[in-house]
Amino acid sequence: MTRLDRVEQTPGRLAGPPLTPRTAVIWSVLRAELERRPGAALTVLDVGGGTGGFAVPLAQAGHRVTVVDASPDALAALTRRAAEAGVAERVRAVQGDGDALAGLVDPGSADLVLCHAVLEVVDDPGAVVAALAAALRPGGAASVLVAGRAAAVLGRAMNGHLDVAAALAADPAGTAGNRDTLRRRYDADGAAALLGAAGLVVEEIHGVRVLADILPAAVADGQPAALVELERALAARAPWRDLAAQLHLFARRP
Ligand SMILES: C[S@@+](CC[C@H](N)C(=O)[O-])C[C@H]1O[C@@H](n2cnc3c(N)ncnc32)[C@H](O)[C@@H]1O
Repeated sequence: MTRLDRVEQTPGRLAGPPLTPRTAVIWSVLRAELERRPGAALTVLDVGGGTGGFAVPLAQAGHRVTVVDASPDALAALTRRAAEAGVAERVRAVQGDGDALAGLVDPGSADLVLCHAVLEVVDDPGAVVAALAAALRPGGAASVLVAGRAAAVLGRAMNGHLDVAAALAADPAGTAGNRDTLRRRYDADGAAALLGAAGLVVEEIHGVRVLADILPAAVADGQPAALVELERALAARAPWRDLAAQLHLFARRP
């Protein structure tokens, strides 16, 4: 039995979020962190939290969540979703740029910061990670999700775009040029180094969506529970972790 299996089988306060192939591994890691302080209402900061896919379930579990996001539309949807879930008083929406995070949140105030699918689009990921680290209290934890470089190369190649795959593999930032929607992609070592440079200690790295994006839809849609189990089984293990569409790093401020 893996650590993720044990966590999934432990009843916790965070019963709500659906375990999809895209999120099950991340929720497993977050649930383990929340269970370190059972009953505590944690202060959570979700940078680029969008419409609240993580913020609202965390608020439903009793935690106070501040979402900083650049998009007013996303924040409006977050506010509606929080109200519908009955947790509006525990969710704060702040419009702002992740690159200017240091001026938006109090230093040393967060027990947990989330930064999911954001570092690949900001101007200066090093500055954002430094601000995440500064927002954490000593002992607080960071959940960081970044786009994986290897999966992008494989994906382009499997779709027949061999020239794009070659460009992506050769580019130091892991992008396919000006038309790429992302400004950078990561491998596990590079992402860990980014967090380490901000003084965070990386405790775990998992692959997210190892298979979810490359399976035929009939398989993924036809066997969702089996796919969740397989994603969880492969998430921490080489070579599958490193082929995942996203890499999830869980780190702590000493
Ligand atoms: C791909 S979505 C991820 C949403 C959410 N974190 C998740 O994983 O489901 C990226 C989010 O980051 C926000 N975003 C993009 N650039 C940003 C920036 N420079 N500062 C703050 N938020 C930003 C977008 O508005 C969007 O809500």
